Amino acid sequence: MTWDFAGRDILSIRDFSRGEVDHVLDVARTMIPAARGEASDRSLQGKVLGTLFFEPSTRTRLSFESAMNRLGGSVLGFADPTVTSLTKGETLADTVRMVESYADAVVLRHPHEGAARLAAKFASIPVINGGDGAGQHPTQTLLDLYTIWSEKGGIEGKKVALLGDLKYGRTVHSLAYALTLYGVELFTVAPPQLQMPAEITQYVKEQGMPLESTSSLEEVIGELDVLYVTRIQKERFPDPTEYQKVAGIYRVNKRLLRDAKPDLIVMHPLPRVDEIDPEVDETPHAKYFVQAFNGVPVRMALLSLIFGGVE
Ligand code: NCD
Repeated sequence: MTWDFAGRDILSIRDFSRGEVDHVLDVARTMIPAARGEASDRSLQGKVLGTLFFEPSTRTRLSFESAMNRLGGSVLGFADPTVTSLTKGETLADTVRMVESYADAVVLRHPHEGAARLAAKFASIPVINGGDGAGQHPTQTLLDLYTIWSEKGGIEGKKVALLGDLKYGRTVHSLAYALTLYGVELFTVAPPQLQMPAEITQYVKEQGMPLESTSSLEEVIGELDVLYVTRIQKERFPDPTEYQKVAGIYRVNKRLLRDAKPDLIVMHPLPRVDEIDPEVDETPHAKYFVQAFNGVPVRMALLSLIFGGVE
């Protein structure tokens, strides 16, 4: 099988076939020693990645930087758009057109849904969506799938719950689509006002995948193989009083996990606020820090494929 990743934009997880996702995960596994700094790989020497972050980020930006550095490439960009010419009124289109003369690919995070797709229209270099508003976060999904795959020995047929802000959370939007490539038993656990958008649940059902929606985590915790927790996306609420009604609504703690299967894994894209009690960190269920590390080998794999460093 030959793969066609070279020079490609990564805008939505829906652009991936099952075979393509599996291939990224396979390549990611081979990147682990270099991701840990235990092996040397300079295959992206001379390549430059531009990181344009119009919204706060810790893991996504730093793991892209780490991935490039571990492969001998380099990074330029900004984490704070207030220091750029955007404050002078420069458009996203012009910003992207400029960056393409300084970099070989660009990662864009932006508060507006569809921003990465728009940027890709103006750029001749590959554009990677590092999160577009409440839209998609495809590279997070690849590392989430890698985490389930490596921790549970596979993805197919697992019982997976998505918990928290399923309305505004882009990580769970992308992940729900991606899980249909494998076929899992999906549970969406959220208060009624933060349930998954209907177009996504409808798509999941059309793929013939079992989906159960509830607001009670206690009801389903005992069945689960994977609990994917998300932060209530405060910054996306049009009305702060609506946020106050749901803030702190779920808290995963040791007491709740007493009813879980011993091998349940708890994931979270991070940052967490109060939805996972820190006492859970020391339990064997906690996989969110491993998940954050997995961002490095997965992004190394993706960058290598896009830059043609590996096939
Ligand atoms: C997430 C995001 O930015 O969508 N974080 C991340 O990329 N790891 C989740 C969040 O902000 O809650």
